[in-house]
Amino acid sequence: MILSIESSCDDSSIAITEIDTYKLLFHKKISQEQQHAAYGGVVPELASRLHAIDLPNILEEARPYLNDLKAVAITNQPGLGVTLLEGIAMAKAIAVTQAIPLIPVHHLKGHIYSLFIEKEQKLPLLVLLISGGHTQIIRVEGLEQMTILATSMDDSVGESFDKTAKMMNLGYPGGSIIEQLATEGDADRFDFPVPLRNSKLIAFSLSGLKNAVRLAIEGLGGAEAMSQQDKCDVAASFQKAVTLHLLQKSKKIFAQEPIKDFALVGGASANLYIRQAYEKLCEEFGKTLHTAPLRYCSDNAAMIGRYAVEAYHQELFAHPYEVDIVTTQKHESGGLL
Ligand code: KG4
Ligand code: ZN
Repeated sequence: MILSIESSCDDSSIAITEIDTYKLLFHKKISQEQQHAAYGGVVPELASRLHAIDLPNILEEARPYLNDLKAVAITNQPGLGVTLLEGIAMAKAIAVTQAIPLIPVHHLKGHIYSLFIEKEQKLPLLVLLISGGHTQIIRVEGLEQMTILATSMDDSVGESFDKTAKMMNLGYPGGSIIEQLATEGDADRFDFPVPLRNSKLIAFSLSGLKNAVRLAIEGLGGAEAMSQQDKCDVAASFQKAVTLHLLQKSKKIFAQEPIKDFALVGGASANLYIRQAYEKLCEEFGKTLHTAPLRYCSDNAAMIGRYAVEAYHQELFAHPYEVDIVTTQKHESGGLL
């Protein structure tokens, strides 16, 4: 079995995956959302200190499996440097003391493998990854054959939900809060611009939409002056504009990519409005839509472990002294290739 550790942001998580069956024998995640909510976003140093408490606690619970490990997998990029290092230090210690290989895992590849938790992998696949840090369409042909077909030029989808929630004083993280409010809102009340609507570019951009939302909130007198219905209407109109943007650019990719299987992954793929919109789009284009169970959309070690099983078979190992965080600019590809 493989022990996997995820600490790229504000979730401490450890999983044990059986190599031959992909069975998840153990999986636990401790989210720090509540502790960061007071600050309106993730505070890196607080996050790393909480990992230093939570990761050893979870590891203790996994103790019954620790003598049967064949490898240890660790997220080493992209993410917050100080939080990645907490997990990396733990993984290195386990690899050295148990004399087992260490498998560094790219967090975004982990999100893609959330689709295959406790299942056979099925490739090739087109993937729309929508998380707190990234928005990308990726052609996935193998563990190391991943090609980014479209990426965000500024904010990510998850970030735009978080910022919209923050502008209305709704709390952090904003994704599920906005989705919830939107169910009671009028999506046509605000005519927010669909980003890059008239552009041939196959790329994403969410900062213009964020400004339009900000202006609408200011026009209503600010968050304090807004009624609950105003907030619901802003949430619904914003969510509709984001979704139309994603669909419009996805259509362009669909027109040029023959791969029949399409998947939504990442924290924002838990959004049911976005999922339903993609069900329709896939039907229209003759594609089959795949999604991960809701509990595996946000960050978790089970997806890291599932990727690691494939990496183990291909012996994609690294010596502990070689494994470091890989720092990339936020809006770069995240080094996916
Ligand atoms: O993948 P993830 O857990 O962490 C990163 O790798 O970034 O994604 C977290 C992001 C947050 O921005 C959060 O607001 C967003 O996913 N999110 C959602 C929903 N649930 C989480 N966005 C839209 N709708 C949701 N239901
Ligand atoms: Zn993530």
